[in-house]
Amino acid sequence: MNSSIETPFDSATVTDSATVNDSATVTESRKADHLRVCLEEDVQFSQTTGLERYRFAHCCLPELDRADVDPATTFLDKSLAAPLLISSMTGGTELAQTINFRLAAAAQAHGLAMGVGSQRVAIENPEVTATFNVRSIAPDILLFANLGAVQLNYDYGLEECRRAIDSLEADALVLHLNPLQEAVQTRGDTNFRGLLGKIAVLCRQLPVPVIAKEVGNGISAAMAQKLIEAGVAAIDVAGAGGTSWAKVEGERAKDPLQRRLGETFADWGIPTGECVKTIRAIAPTCR
Ligand SMILES: Cc1cc2nc3c(=O)[nH]c(=O)nc-3n(C[C@H](O)[C@H](O)[C@H](O)COP(=O)(O)O)c2cc1C
Repeated sequence: MNSSIETPFDSATVTDSATVNDSATVTESRKADHLRVCLEEDVQFSQTTGLERYRFAHCCLPELDRADVDPATTFLDKSLAAPLLISSMTGGTELAQTINFRLAAAAQAHGLAMGVGSQRVAIENPEVTATFNVRSIAPDILLFANLGAVQLNYDYGLEECRRAIDSLEADALVLHLNPLQEAVQTRGDTNFRGLLGKIAVLCRQLPVPVIAKEVGNGISAAMAQKLIEAGVAAIDVAGAGGTSWAKVEGERAKDPLQRRLGETFADWGIPTGECVKTIRAIAPTCR
């Protein structure tokens, strides 16, 4: 394991000399910090998702009975009552557990898919594993484990991915790609070199499908093409227009230069609408 542990979404830097209790405390406070910043600060993009530019064409002669309209679908071999996903957000603290459990109950009640937040904190400190364990609340849902892809360059591999999947009884593993967030984050993990090859190996070795996602800066058609060729089963574009992680990390940073970096890149990214349209054009059957 790396001597310096930086979880992508909690920024909890823990050194080897720290006790588990120290690291858990740091991690918890950072996790709480993320939730607080997202709830209380203005961390929204100024630009929109671009989805407002699209609308369904009205059909005056639908030739179907409204009673037959059913949004149910199948995704990664599981039934969904509607094509909706509660995407990866949190875990690792008491509040995060409450949030995860409530989201899981909603997903179970409504037949939706759900992902948990980065499980790195639980890999490093198994004591907080329970804060992610929503299976008992949501036995039937399509459930995604989550780790940062960049951790594959910081001593993570097949074993850590398997642990994340197994502890959750997950149906798939989400690997998030967050180069901007890591760049703005204080002591972020910024070596993104050679990740595509490592993702391709995991796609072949893991017992469940791998999903690639961004965290709010979008995925271009060119990158989607590479990820599809690497073997990912699905892509969550997580485009620009919602939560700006450059803003979140800039907000949390103490160093004025780091804060300025966050402000500079606050609105950086490919809007969701553009991601979906351009990826569909090169990969019409991509999920
Ligand atoms: C509080 C919070 C925590 C998040 N934590 C994670 C995470 O641990 N892993 C991840 O892949 N994405 C994480 N995300 C990113 C979301 O899954 C999503 O991709 C991103 O916020 C873009 O969606 P939005 O436009 O609806 O904000 C987090 C988002 C929020 C708001």
